[in-house]
Amino acid sequence: MIRPTTPDDTAAILDLAVSSGLFPPGATEEVAGVLAGCLDGTAGPDHHWVTDDDGGPVGVAYYAPERMTDGTWNLYMIAVRPDRQRQGRGAVLVRHVEAALAARGARILLVETSGLASFERTRAFYRNCGYDEEARIRDFYKAGDDKVIFRKALPAPG
Ligand SMILES: CC(C)(COP(=O)(O)OP(=O)(O)OC[C@H]1O[C@@H](n2cnc3c(N)ncnc32)[C@H](O)[C@@H]1OP(=O)(O)O)[C@@H](O)C(=O)NCCC(=O)NCCS
Repeated sequence: MIRPTTPDDTAAILDLAVSSGLFPPGATEEVAGVLAGCLDGTAGPDHHWVTDDDGGPVGVAYYAPERMTDGTWNLYMIAVRPDRQRQGRGAVLVRHVEAALAARGARILLVETSGLASFERTRAFYRNCGYDEEARIRDFYKAGDDKVIFRKALPAPG
């Protein structure tokens, strides 16, 4: 079941952020701060976290609007617990976010990831979900580590 994230999910989400390989152990302070700011409303009304709950959190997604755009959003984070990957859960999470955004008239969803060879499976996942590689900023994260931006146009509501 995909449901809005609650403060009770915090520990499980931080575990997930590490176990999925997105953050090194001990480096979750920033994501903890972002999550807390979204849950208590200080980040603004449109910062959404959703939890995939199957007897506890097994996946998470965080999305918010891009500033100074009309209807462009960014899927800032998506992660599925390693022992639950390749079961279609990530694709269901992406579709859930897309449907929620399309229903409110959002036009475009972006998602960014690394161009490193070790992120090829993540890029394959986005391509499989219907995202096009739209741009690449060379050496963005560090020398030799590009940022790859994927884009999908969302269907118009109705
Ligand atoms: C990326 C991620 C969210 C995908 O979630 P998932 O539940 O494993 O993905 P799904 O099972 O829904 O996969 C859907 C499709 O994506 C592709 N895909 C997913 N994992 C893949 C892999 N390891 N290798 C190749 N293709 C893969 C496949 O085409 C898959 O369809 P198939 O299983 O029918 O072949 C998950 O692997 C993850 O948490 N990765 C680590 C964190 C991360 O990189 N997050 C994204 C950056 S913010």
